[in-house]
Amino acid sequence: MDQETNQTLTQTGPGTPMGELMRRYWHPIAAVAQLEDKAVMPVRLMGEDLVLYKDFSGNYGLVDRQCAHRRADLSYGFVEEVGLRCNYHGWLYDHTGDAIERPFEETVRPEFQGKVQAKVKAYRAAAHAGLVWAYMGPEPAPLVPNWEPFTWANGFVQIVFTEVPCNWFQCQENSIDPVHFEWMHENWTIRQKKGAGAPYGPKHLKVDFDEFDYGMVYKRIREDTDEKHPLWTIGRVCLWPHALFTGSHFEWRVPVDDHTTLSVGWFFNRVPHDCEPYVQKRIPYWTSPVRDEDTGRWITSHTMNQDYVAWVGQGAIADRTGEHLGLSDKGIVMMRKRFLSDVDVVKAGGDPKAVVRDEETNRCLTLPIPGRKPLVEGLSREEFDRVESRNGNSTLGMTGMREFVWLIGQPEEIKREYNEAMGWKAPAPQTSS
Ligand code: FES
Ligand SMILES: [Fe+2]
Repeated sequence: MDQETNQTLTQTGPGTPMGELMRRYWHPIAAVAQLEDKAVMPVRLMGEDLVLYKDFSGNYGLVDRQCAHRRADLSYGFVEEVGLRCNYHGWLYDHTGDAIERPFEETVRPEFQGKVQAKVKAYRAAAHAGLVWAYMGPEPAPLVPNWEPFTWANGFVQIVFTEVPCNWFQCQENSIDPVHFEWMHENWTIRQKKGAGAPYGPKHLKVDFDEFDYGMVYKRIREDTDEKHPLWTIGRVCLWPHALFTGSHFEWRVPVDDHTTLSVGWFFNRVPHDCEPYVQKRIPYWTSPVRDEDTGRWITSHTMNQDYVAWVGQGAIADRTGEHLGLSDKGIVMMRKRFLSDVDVVKAGGDPKAVVRDEETNRCLTLPIPGRKPLVEGLSREEFDRVESRNGNSTLGMTGMREFVWLIGQPEEIKREYNEAMGWKAPAPQTSS
C-alpha cells in the first residue's frame, strides 16, 4: 500500500475523505448511565473536541467544547431545564447549539430576550440500547441502527470502555482476521498460562469471507471443526463501519482522533429460564485499563486486552507500506477496498454501505449469529449449569459464563449484579483449567 492510501484509510479529521465517510454513521460515545451519574462530559470524536450533556428535560446535546462568548470550556458548564450553561458568564445553549440566554446582555437590553444572537457547533446525540450515540454528518441523519440483540429480552447487559492509544482502522482490521484467534487467543494464551512447550491449539485449515448488507463475515474451519460447524456455515461479523459482532457482544472501535480509539464493548448474557422474566433496571458501565501500572507493559490476560496489544504494537498509525499480506488477509483487502470505494460514493453525494434509513427495516436488523438459539430462546437451569461448568466456552452463544473473560477490571458490584441475574447466589466454584 502506498503512503497516500494509508493516510486516506486512517485519517478521520474534519474534511478528510474518511472523516466525511465516517460522519455518515452513528457512533456510540458514552453510556446512558454515565450521563445519569454526571450530566456533562467532555468527548473527543474524529478529532473534534465536544461536550456531551443531558439536560433536566432529558434532551441529549453534543456541542462544541468552547463557548461562543469568550471560549470557556463548556465541559465545566452545568445543565438546566433546557440546555447547557457556560460556567463563566452564564450563556445557555440548547441542543441545536443556539445561545438561548445571555444573562447580562438581556438584563441591560431586555429587547434581546428570546433572540438568538450566537451559536456553537452542535451535533445530534441519541440514546439507544444503553448507549449514547453521536451523528456528525449532514442532514437528514440516518436512523440509529437497531441491531437484533438490542431487541432481545431477559439479558444482562454491560458496557465497557477502553481508550486505546492507536488509530481506529487497524483495530477494525482485527474484526476480519480469523487466524489471529489461533495464535493470539489460543497458542499465546496457553503459553502465558502453562509455559513454553505447552501444546498448540487446533490449526486453521480454511478461511473464507463474504459481504452482506451490514458488513462482512469471516468463516473458518479448524482441525477440530468441519464444514457443518456454525463458524463455517454462518461465521462471525465484521460490522459496518467499525465493530466486531460475535453474537453475544459488540466491540466498536470509535475514532477519537487519528492516534486514539475508544473501544466500546456491549455484552449480552441471557439469564436461565428460572430467572425470567428479567428486566434490567440500569445498564451498568465500566472502564478497562490497557496498561499494567506496575510494569508499564500492556495487559495481556484478557481476550480484548490481548487484541489491544496487537493494535498498539502496530504503531500509533500502522505503516501499511511495510506490510506483506498473505492468504489469511483476503478479508482485510476486501474491507479496505470497500471503504475506499465508499469514499468515492460519499464524494459523489451517495450513502455508503450500511446506512439505515428505513423505519420498517430498522425495527430489527437481523445479523448472522452462530449460537443464536441459547441467546434468543434461553436455556433451562440444567442446560445453563452444564454450560457454566465449562465456563460457557463450549457454547457459541457464550451463555452461562461465570467469569468475564473479555476485559480486565470488572468491578465487584457489576459481577455481583451479574451473578444475581444469573441466579448464582453462591460464590463461584474453583475450577481447574
Ligand atoms: S465564556 Fe462562556 S459565557 Fe462567557
Ligand atoms: Fe481478538
